[in-house]
Amino acid sequence: MRLGIIGCGAIGTDVAAAADTMKDIEKIYLHDINPTASKKLCSMLKKASIQPVEDFLKNVDVVFEAASQQAVNQYAAMVLDAGKDIIIMSIGSLFDDTLRKKLENTARKHHRKIYLPSGAVCGIDGVLAASIEKLDSVTLVTTKSPASLGKSVEERTVVFKGNARDAVKQFPKNINVAACLSLAGVGFDETKVEIVADPVETRINHKILAHGRFGRLRAEVENMPNPNNPQSSYMASLSAIATLRRVLDPLQIA
Ligand SMILES: NC(=O)c1ccc[n+]([C@@H]2O[C@H](COP(=O)([O-])OP(=O)(O)OC[C@H]3O[C@@H](n4cnc5c(N)ncnc54)[C@H](O)[C@@H]3O)[C@@H](O)[C@H]2O)c1
Repeated sequence: MRLGIIGCGAIGTDVAAAADTMKDIEKIYLHDINPTASKKLCSMLKKASIQPVEDFLKNVDVVFEAASQQAVNQYAAMVLDAGKDIIIMSIGSLFDDTLRKKLENTARKHHRKIYLPSGAVCGIDGVLAASIEKLDSVTLVTTKSPASLGKSVEERTVVFKGNARDAVKQFPKNINVAACLSLAGVGFDETKVEIVADPVETRINHKILAHGRFGRLRAEVENMPNPNNPQSSYMASLSAIATLRRVLDPLQIA
């Protein structure tokens, strides 16, 4: 299989390094808006070369996006229209209902898939299954250090309480986690979000709480930052690599 990567930052680098060691991946094409980033990554890999997306598209089977919402706007429909699958990390872009519906329709038309890794959160599988039946409530509680939320508080303080759609407007850096949970469960308007600034917190803590006919779910992860980008949880890279494996492997843990 041949893989195209858009975005050679922290996550793109982790995924490319993993793909470089995978037997099933023959070739990796890299693109970044910043040529220094793609050159640096290319020099670390055995199977990679640098090409614009428009050029590598005809040669790849799947495209991995780890760039930005703007890149999703720019390339996702093009990738699907070319008859290729896409893995999207900048899931926050799918808050845009018009864009999301357009991508879903294009994928359907070409019998392609849009993969959305669970990223920095855990428990998405449970929420997805539970949403088949009635889900009464889904809540995301994100706790970070005050500095990483741009706050200076001396005690545990709830800085946001509302739905996912409004959370994204006020705290765009939590957008991917809230978007993934919303899409898996009860949507952007019904998903509740609480963002907490806690001086005791040294990691990035995400807790999912869900109630419904299935029972009760509580999933919590304490994420270490990615060494190459402290804004990204390392778990997001691992989840991306696991999704790529899922695309390749005959054995599927769903
Ligand atoms: N789903 C999740 O849980 C999750 C978690 C962390 C990050 N993310 C998202 O994944 C994306 C990548 O994260 P990262 O930590 O690797 O970021 P990063 O800043 O380390 O790397 C992003 C790279 O993409 C490049 N880029 C930006 N816009 C581009 C464009 N239009 N075309 C081509 N290249 C472009 C940048 O030059 C940079 O090299 C971000 O959008 C981030 O919000 C998702």
